[in-house]
Amino acid sequence: MQPMTSRPAGALNGRCTVPGDKSISHRALMLGASAVGQTTVHGLLEAEDVLSTATALRHLGADITCREGVWVIEGRGVGGLREPDQVLDLGNAGTGARLLIGLVASHPFTTFFTGDASLRGRPMRRIIAPLQRMGATFCTRSGERLPLAVNGSQQPLPISYTLPVASAQVKSAILLCALNAPGETTVVEPLPSRDHSERLLRHFGATISTEDLADGSRRISLVGEPELTGRRIDVPADISSAAFPLVAAAIVPGSSVQICGVGINPLRTGLLTSLSEMGASIRLDHQREAGGEPVADLAIDAQPLRGITVPAERVPAMVDEFPVLAAAAACATGVTRMLGLGELRVKESDRLAAVAAGLNACGVAVDMGDDWLAITGCGGPPPGGGHVAVHLDHRIAMAFLTLGMASRAAVSVDDGAPIATSFPDFAALMNGLGAQIGPRVAG
Ligand code: S3P
Repeated sequence: MQPMTSRPAGALNGRCTVPGDKSISHRALMLGASAVGQTTVHGLLEAEDVLSTATALRHLGADITCREGVWVIEGRGVGGLREPDQVLDLGNAGTGARLLIGLVASHPFTTFFTGDASLRGRPMRRIIAPLQRMGATFCTRSGERLPLAVNGSQQPLPISYTLPVASAQVKSAILLCALNAPGETTVVEPLPSRDHSERLLRHFGATISTEDLADGSRRISLVGEPELTGRRIDVPADISSAAFPLVAAAIVPGSSVQICGVGINPLRTGLLTSLSEMGASIRLDHQREAGGEPVADLAIDAQPLRGITVPAERVPAMVDEFPVLAAAAACATGVTRMLGLGELRVKESDRLAAVAAGLNACGVAVDMGDDWLAITGCGGPPPGGGHVAVHLDHRIAMAFLTLGMASRAAVSVDDGAPIATSFPDFAALMNGLGAQIGPRVAG
C-alpha cells in the first residue's frame, strides 16, 4: 500500500502531455500479434496494464520488443498463436484479460488466465456466453470469474450476437475471436461504445462494416479469416488520463492548462460534453487525425461550474470518467445527477460505492441508488480532509487526489500504487502544473 496525499493547490498552469491511450495500446499489441509481418507502435502506453498484455502475448508466441520508445511486434498471423506453457496473469487489466480471452477462444489449445484481487472479482459471464456459442469451452471458479481456463475451439463458428449492455470489451472479445472463424460475425450493441477495435481492424486490412440502426443501436459485421498485414500505429494521448488535469484545471480557481495530442474519438468525449454543460471553458485546438483517430490539443481555463443531469445515453462515451466528474460536481453549484451507472459497479472497483464513500469522507453530500448518483456541490472548495479507500482502482485514487487540489483541507488515499496501471507519472505531471501530491506522512 502506498498512501498518498493531495494538498490544496494554487492555480494550475502550463502545458502537458498525458500517456498513450490504454484501450488503443492493448488492441495495437493484440492485432500486431495477429498480423503477418512487422507492426510498429509509437506512443504505446507503458503502464502495468498494457505491459501485462505484452507479456501475455509473448507467452502466446508473439515477438514483442521495445527499441527507443517504439514497440515492434513480429506477428504470427490470424490463428497463429501457440499454447502458452504458463498461466497468463493480467494483473489489474480487465481490457487485457477480456480481449485476450476472446483472441485465444478461436485457437485450438487451452489457456489459463488469472489476475489481481480486483480482476479476479470481475464478471466474465458477459464474454463467456458469446464465446461458448463460437465453440470455446470454459472452466471457471464460482461466479464465472478468474482464474479460468479457455479451451479454444477447433472449428470456430461465426455468430450474430446482441450485447445485453453496451460494452466495448465484450464487442472486442467477440470480434477478436471472429478473426479466426470462417464467414461473417455480427455484433449489435444497444448504444455505440468506443470503436477502436473496428478502426484498427480496418487499418490492418480486415473487412468490417458498421451500421447505425433506427433504434439507436449499432451493428458491426466482420468477415473472418482476413489476412492482416503489419502496420505502423500512432497512439494518441488517452482522454481518460487527460480527464484528471482537465478537471483539476476546471475546479482550481485561476487555472489555465493545455493538454497536447489527446484522442477525441466522439465515442470517448462524454466528459467534455458534461463539463461544457456545467459551464467549463474548453477549447479543442489543432484538430487533426493520427493513426486513424481524431486528435486535438485541449485548452481549459477554470470557471465556476453548475450542476447538471448526465443522461444514461451518455454513459458509454464517458464510462471511465464518472469518478473524476464527481470531483467537478463536488465543486459546482447545485446538484449533479448521473444516471444509468449500473456498469460502474463492475469496474476495477464498485465505483458507485467508492465514489459515494469518498465524497462522504470529504464532506460532500451524496445520494446513491442502484445505478445513479446525486451529488450536491459545495459551490466552491469542498471541505476535503477525507481519507479515501481506493479498492485497487487507479481512477478512484486519481479522482480523489484531483479533488484534494480544490478542497479546503488535504485529501488522502489509502493506496496510490494502482495509479501505475494506467498513468505512472500522474503525480509528477500534476505537480508540474502546480499540484501538491506526495506520499502521505503518517500522523
Ligand atoms: C474499455 C472499455 C470499457 C472501459 C474500460 C476500457 C475498452 O469497459 O471501462 O476501461 O478498452 O474496451 P466496458 O467495455 O466493460 O464498458
